[in-house]
Amino acid sequence: MVGNHNFVRLDTSHLPSPCHVIDLVRLEDNLKLLKRVADESGAEVLLALKAFSCFAVAELISKYLAGTAASGLYEARLGKTRFGGQMHAYVPGLRDEDVDELLTHADHLILNSLGQWHRFRGRLEARPGKSFGLRVNPGHNEVENPLYDPCAPWSRLGAPASGLKAEDLEGLSGIHIHMLCDHDYDAFDRMLDAVETNCGHLFGSIDWINLGGGLLVTEDNFPANKLICRLQEFRSRTGLHVILEPGTAVALHAGALVSEVLDRSTNVGAFAIMDTSATCHMPDVIEAPFTPDVLGAQTLPRETEPRPDIPDIVRLGGPTCLAGDIIGTYRFKNPPKVGDRLVFLDLAYYTMVKATTFNGTHLPALALWDSATDTLDVVRTFSYKDFESRLS
Ligand SMILES: Cc1ncc(COP(=O)(O)O)c(C=O)c1O
Repeated sequence: MVGNHNFVRLDTSHLPSPCHVIDLVRLEDNLKLLKRVADESGAEVLLALKAFSCFAVAELISKYLAGTAASGLYEARLGKTRFGGQMHAYVPGLRDEDVDELLTHADHLILNSLGQWHRFRGRLEARPGKSFGLRVNPGHNEVENPLYDPCAPWSRLGAPASGLKAEDLEGLSGIHIHMLCDHDYDAFDRMLDAVETNCGHLFGSIDWINLGGGLLVTEDNFPANKLICRLQEFRSRTGLHVILEPGTAVALHAGALVSEVLDRSTNVGAFAIMDTSATCHMPDVIEAPFTPDVLGAQTLPRETEPRPDIPDIVRLGGPTCLAGDIIGTYRFKNPPKVGDRLVFLDLAYYTMVKATTFNGTHLPALALWDSATDTLDVVRTFSYKDFESRLS
């Protein structure tokens, strides 16, 4: 995603490599916009921890957002203990042994099915002051890639709205819907229409509706005022309390991954081996797939053929033994040399949370960068201990 960011001003020479760099200025700009949406629309905005859980910036985030949304027990604990504020948990596969601890952290718990609700209801209702909801699939699709479409036919995420009656929600106070992935306002607008059409029969039985994440509120030129008006109008007509839980939008254009060129060579086309890996540090690059942008280079389609006649076209890959550990193919004005640092843009959300040490590969360090004052603070580095401690 190319957008406004400050990384052209980043001096990478003082950083360890590889290293995630979070730009505090852009992060705070994103948070200010999300808070404006919350304040002016009356909706509650949470951070979806699955996308971005970096608690080195928890204090900044909790200044602007009402709390966090978790997808598992440990995220719920991290949200409550490191970020504070309201903690909303939705765990598709709820383990019997996790329920009690989950309720010590979560203020709101969303069940994935009515079966889950009936199985755990007694234990849940024994905890005063908690609110419970049901994940509902409205049966409307906006996402093309099935990997990211929670509303596809046969989706295991949420109870199909068409099979639900208002009385099924007895004892529950809300519903949770998540349908978007990196979408713009128009998709949100269509989503809310579909939610009203397909889930409107449930509104009389609930107090709140969580509309999930996937909306790029902080993308350049996003029509925030339209979103605010739509939410205000929806709230006043339905009387429902509205919750949004963006992940990507919180850290959009605020994070980068700095990486060094370890080797250059040629096999039909030119390639470089980096000290960061697609499979270890950016698995969505392979799963989605997508190609992250590199500062100062043109991103070429993933299917680009090797070109022995064009040395400016370089394929970048990771240091692991996986043949498919390919980050992408790029056209450079000045092809990088061994020892050069490259900046992969928009690699903070869904990357830090997913990183692994396959092949004994280093985990990227983490630095906070104030792009206004050019102050860098390396807050975390990793070592052999982090690799070893998970293996026995
Ligand atoms: C239930 C739920 N809420 C929120 C999010 C956050 O979405 P995004 O990071 O795209 O804003 C996701 C992403 O998968 C999700 O599944």
